[in-house]
Amino acid sequence: MKKEMNATDASAYENERRNPAAAVRTGIIGALEEEVASLSEAAANTKTTSIAGMTFYEGTLDGRQAIIVKCGIGKVNAGICAQLLITVFHADRIINTGVAGSLNAAIEIGDIVISTDAVQHDFDLTPLGYAPGELDGARTPSLPADAEMRRNAVHAVRQCVPEAHVFEGRVCTGDQFISSSARKEVLAAAFGGLCCEMEGGAIAQVCLQNGIPFVIIRAISDKADGSAEMAYSEFTRAAAIRCAAIVRAMIASPV
Ligand code: ADE
Repeated sequence: MKKEMNATDASAYENERRNPAAAVRTGIIGALEEEVASLSEAAANTKTTSIAGMTFYEGTLDGRQAIIVKCGIGKVNAGICAQLLITVFHADRIINTGVAGSLNAAIEIGDIVISTDAVQHDFDLTPLGYAPGELDGARTPSLPADAEMRRNAVHAVRQCVPEAHVFEGRVCTGDQFISSSARKEVLAAAFGGLCCEMEGGAIAQVCLQNGIPFVIIRAISDKADGSAEMAYSEFTRAAAIRCAAIVRAMIASPV
């Protein structure tokens, strides 16, 4: 039986016809409460669904369709979450946002990194002849972000936090909080990354395997060295707020 369109469906349909960006469904993943709380609070018409211990807020954010979710820390949580966003919530693209440790002396606390690509620095098949971080069969450790989403993200930073320094480069992901200069130097030397965190590379892998564009937007909360634990506690909240503002500016801009 044919279903009649109600007034809400009809107005959404008309909005999407006039403005194709309104039809794009963006999945937004943060690992921590601080990273997603202001986004889920700003969302309208939200429906919440809990799966695998994660609460998905599905609604509109600044007029665009969005699904906002806190995945928890680490690659397994992030991978589960990204796949659910794609399979269950039909996300067309995914933004991963949150805080990160700096791997580069030029990148300070509060600065922003937009991913050119991600690597999983703890994925190690080197004894079998693979390059560090190379996933089985991939021939490269690099998991490339979407070019258009990267452009949109950089534009959003310049628009909403013009005082922040924005860097484009590689994000290094692993199931480790990096808090020593020695480990930081190993990562920087092996991968040439700009920052380290614990989810982006897993989300990147899931998105690429599903043909879904993604970008990672990270604000620096610490320097991934001996001062990392103290700095992380002190700066995570402010860095996460900065990220949320950038995500909103990006969502609101044309796709
Ligand atoms: N997220 C924020 N800072 C980090 C660090 N130093 N290591 C891993 N993940 C982080």
